[in-house]
Amino acid sequence: MTKIQKAADTSVPISELLANRWSPRVYDPTHVMTQQQVTRLAEAARWAASGNNAQPWRFAFTLRGEELFEKISAGMLSGFNASWAPQASLYVLAFANKFKADGSELDRHAAYFNNALATSQLVFEAEAMGLKAHYMGGVLHDEILRSVGVEDAWLTCVITIGAQGDASNVSEELQQREAAPRERKPLDQILISHS
Ligand SMILES: Cc1cc2nc3c(=O)[nH]c(=O)nc-3n(C[C@H](O)[C@H](O)[C@H](O)COP(=O)(O)O)c2cc1C
Repeated sequence: MTKIQKAADTSVPISELLANRWSPRVYDPTHVMTQQQVTRLAEAARWAASGNNAQPWRFAFTLRGEELFEKISAGMLSGFNASWAPQASLYVLAFANKFKADGSELDRHAAYFNNALATSQLVFEAEAMGLKAHYMGGVLHDEILRSVGVEDAWLTCVITIGAQGDASNVSEELQQREAAPRERKPLDQILISHS
């Protein structure tokens, strides 16, 4: 059983939760999430910060084996995502609302920014639960929106969540991607100097 760990190589220590999060593609296809775990993820997202506390986000959770999960797996994942995501235990569909509570339009950038904060909390909660998460933008957004009957929100991403699987038991391409080192720009490229 090979479970790959890819802690971030940081210049100074950061919290273990942040350092250890990464986006695997090998999930244990026998792992099953409980309803309580799903609720815990939803709570983690619910308590994210948002501009004016507007909370312009909604989520749909679908477990492997459910009709929506299998429908997405069968035809709504782009490219390589279709080969590994269906082994995850859960898909989280993240929606950014188009309208405020009073019916006025929400700015798309603000809605997406707030949505990213909530999904990030959900992903770190999964990490704290000993699970692994992987964001996917490579999905058929319109088809998924139609499938769930949502017209008043954008689908920002689908997140796979599950237990890590055995990386020695998958295709060579998947093994290579799973073992590839995690890379980041050096700090000096993301820090803006000022006088
Ligand atoms: C908004 C967003 C969309 C992403 N879409 C995909 C995707 O469709 N397929 C995929 O394999 N990874 C996807 N990723 C994962 C990134 O490739 C990954 O986070 C990045 O390479 C850094 O690796 P790490 O998360 O392991 O640190 C996405 C990540 C984000 C944040």
